[in-house]
Amino acid sequence: MRKKTVINAKPDLKNAALRKREPIEFIREKLVISTRLRNEANGKNFFIRTYGCQANVLDGQTIEGILMEIGYTQVDDPMNADVVIINTCAIRENAEDKVYGEIGSLKALKSKKPHSIIALCGCMTQQPHIVSKIRETYPQVDIIFGTHNINHIPQLLDEAIFNQTRIIEVYSKQGEVIEDLPCHRQDKAKAFVNIQYGCDKFCTYCIVPYTRGKQRSRKKEDILLECKKLVDEGYQEITLLGQNVNAYGKDLDSKLSFAELLEDVAKLGIPRLRFTTSHPWDFTDEMFKAMATYKNIMPAIHLPLQSGSDDVLRRMGRRYTAKEYCDLVDRLREIVPGVAITTDIIVGFPNETDEDFEKTLDVVRYVHYDSAFTFIYSPRVGTPAAKIKDEISMETKHKRFDKLVKTLAVDVKSHADAYVGKVVPVLVDGLSKKDGTILSGYTDTLKLVNFTGNPDNIGKIVNVKITEATTYYLKGEEVNG
Ligand code: 5AD
Ligand code: SF4
Repeated sequence: MRKKTVINAKPDLKNAALRKREPIEFIREKLVISTRLRNEANGKNFFIRTYGCQANVLDGQTIEGILMEIGYTQVDDPMNADVVIINTCAIRENAEDKVYGEIGSLKALKSKKPHSIIALCGCMTQQPHIVSKIRETYPQVDIIFGTHNINHIPQLLDEAIFNQTRIIEVYSKQGEVIEDLPCHRQDKAKAFVNIQYGCDKFCTYCIVPYTRGKQRSRKKEDILLECKKLVDEGYQEITLLGQNVNAYGKDLDSKLSFAELLEDVAKLGIPRLRFTTSHPWDFTDEMFKAMATYKNIMPAIHLPLQSGSDDVLRRMGRRYTAKEYCDLVDRLREIVPGVAITTDIIVGFPNETDEDFEKTLDVVRYVHYDSAFTFIYSPRVGTPAAKIKDEISMETKHKRFDKLVKTLAVDVKSHADAYVGKVVPVLVDGLSKKDGTILSGYTDTLKLVNFTGNPDNIGKIVNVKITEATTYYLKGEEVNG
């Protein structure tokens, strides 16, 4: 029998695109957990799968924290779970396809445990056409919630379990800044810390400004408090997160800059401080100077290019030219010598010509990236670019993509080769996924290293002599001192 569906709020892309002038609300949240839900959770398990970017990973950690506070225990097999959360990503079609595959396979859980609860959240659920599809095609999904109401999980679970209803609660609003929610970090050495939520840039291909709301910064005191706690707990690395970290503070009354925040966090003494993502817009020399001054700010920057053609950049709404981008790279390298630069590039934006694509290759050859994420453009419903009639075939896009990957690989390998024979500090993550006798970790420039060494040093920074380089990782051996 189909359950009754209760709709508390449905997503609405138009509303999600509004940027109201009202000030952002800062909320200090105490979770409201009913006694019957606490009793219900006793001895029960939850499973969570998170897709997508670091913002989603951090949301996933908040959801874990909330479920644990209710009383559930985390398991790593969905078939042993009483509550399954699928934290989705909507950035490209293939990310969405994976989620549909996973929801399909969860039918087996419903057969095994009819009273289990399946909940869907994240960026996919912020889109009306996806919520309709889930409602119609996947009756096994009990709760659909969005990126703005993670704090309501206890109420949603209570309602779904005790009233035996399906619930949809997805707000399309600019969003608040909610503090004091629990966060469960499995990694005891590396932590993400949000400094800013949402995005106001509205690049014409991107769904993020619709799914994550208005750009809003956390207050500096709250960020510093969280970072200080992590330092005191012995964390070795903090990555400050936001869609456009260099625009941090512009929306705050204090008009604090990202450079100032970066310095204040660096002063807390965390051994490694990183940040992501930077938009080539809103950059200041102060930021670069902070990177050069504080040795614990890692010399690595992710600077999405997207395209090297001025026409495509204009149509993407990126608001910089290829020349401005390259000048920025020059300035960065001048102030922070040896900095590793990585990027994101989209191939096959609607009606990208061969000449446009060649211009992207020109920038790639100019910058000599340390590594890059490359994507074939994926139309996103509701974004301006998705309305453009595209004359370029998928075959052409794939050919360009392959050429881009080959061009990038030359630089990636030569950057890697330069490490051979050097001794570099590596923060040890753990045993390599492929070989249990090998450790893996990252250099200060965010290069993956697989090496022989002492497993007691997992979670610590050790010196590793690099013996070999491949395009994908470095090989080495731990050395003393
Ligand atoms: N199609 C392909 N790639 C995209 N990205 C964002 N939106 C799309 C899209 N519609 C890429 C951009 C961004 C990265 C996180 O994902 O390169 O920087
Ligand atoms: Fe998307 Fe552009 Fe915002 Fe990045 S800056 S999240 S690409 S809209």
